[in-house]
Amino acid sequence: MILTADEIQAIRQEAGHFPHPSAAAIEALNIVQRSHGWISDELLEEIAELLGMSPAELDSVATFYNLIYRRPVGKRVIHYCNSVSCWMLGAEENRRHLTEKLGIGLGETTGDGEYTLLPIVCLGACDKAPVLMIGDETHFNVDPARLDTILGETGAP
Ligand code: FES
Repeated sequence: MILTADEIQAIRQEAGHFPHPSAAAIEALNIVQRSHGWISDELLEEIAELLGMSPAELDSVATFYNLIYRRPVGKRVIHYCNSVSCWMLGAEENRRHLTEKLGIGLGETTGDGEYTLLPIVCLGACDKAPVLMIGDETHFNVDPARLDTILGETGAP
């Protein structure tokens, strides 16, 4: 068993709010991801068992949501929105800047394990495009100069 006693208790508590425990799947995945950083196959199997689901059922939920990671990621994940409003207003320029500055491509993690760069669909703030998220924080009207400031503040090269 890889899940901690605290995680198991938190998942059971969450599942108790619903007639069927599987309704707590996303929150259960989030509980575990918060402490482990990503959801390995072993963790997925243990969560599925707690929720009375097959690993395949839970995996279909996990892979549907962009913010659940089924592979290792860096300490901070940069999600840049590449949907239409952001794309028209400079998302691609920001993506180029990030890949050059961090030395990684999409889906990759910096050698120091600090940042992973991933695209994401519309974040619902199109009037403030281009938008990106670093960890839980959303940044609006981003351009390369602002990116340098943001990453400087978070300790990036
Ligand atoms: S298109 Fe980027 S926030 Fe909507």
